[in-house]
Amino acid sequence: MMKSKQGPILLVALIAAVTLCSLSPTQEQPKREKAKNLKVMPKNSTHEEIDSVMKEFKTALGVRCNFCHVASKDDPKKMDWASDGNKHKEIARDMMRMTNKINKKYVKVTCYTCHQGKEEPLLEPATAATR
Ligand code: HEC
Ligand code: HEC
Repeated sequence: MMKSKQGPILLVALIAAVTLCSLSPTQEQPKREKAKNLKVMPKNSTHEEIDSVMKEFKTALGVRCNFCHVASKDDPKKMDWASDGNKHKEIARDMMRMTNKINKKYVKVTCYTCHQGKEEPLLEPATAATR
């Protein structure tokens, strides 16, 4: 009879399906280390969130990551992202606080609104002498 032959096969398939489903959560990508030194962004920010903010900073100021971050003391080939050893990082934090305030009280601005790809925005129109 068909039924009695298919029964065990269906059972094996069912067990396989259940096993695969219960395995998948453990097959998640390994979690990267959590951010250690966030003072302006939410402490539980994901790496994706941090990455997208950092890329925005890079473009807005026309700089590389090392404009605000220092290399690791143990391995100069690696960056120490959590370190506050670069003074530009603390300036950037003040700028983030300021930008958040402007956004809450006045209009939507980003780093790029003022910086336009430069480290220091022009405070006045360039004169013939400074152009
Ligand atoms: C204009 C300055 C600036 C630039 C450029 C910049 N960062 Fe940052 N970065 C910061 C600041 C400020 C913080 C801390 C934010 C806070 O306190 O909420 C930070 C935090 C981080 C953190 C979290 C570290 C931790 O554990 O606390 C990572 C990772 C990071 N940056 C990576 C990058 C990468 C990668 C780039 C280049 C694509 C980059 N940053 C470019 C200013 C900068
Ligand atoms: C309302 C305009 C404005 C916005 C918005 C703004 N900045 Fe600035 N930023 C300035 C001005 C003006 C200066 C230069 C004068 C000063 O240092 O006070 C500056 C200077 C800086 C410096 C120091 C540069 C140097 O050469 O030392 C950093 C770093 C910086 N900004 C990062 C940021 C980041 C990151 C953001 C977005 C979170 C941001 N700024 C948003 C106006 C702005």
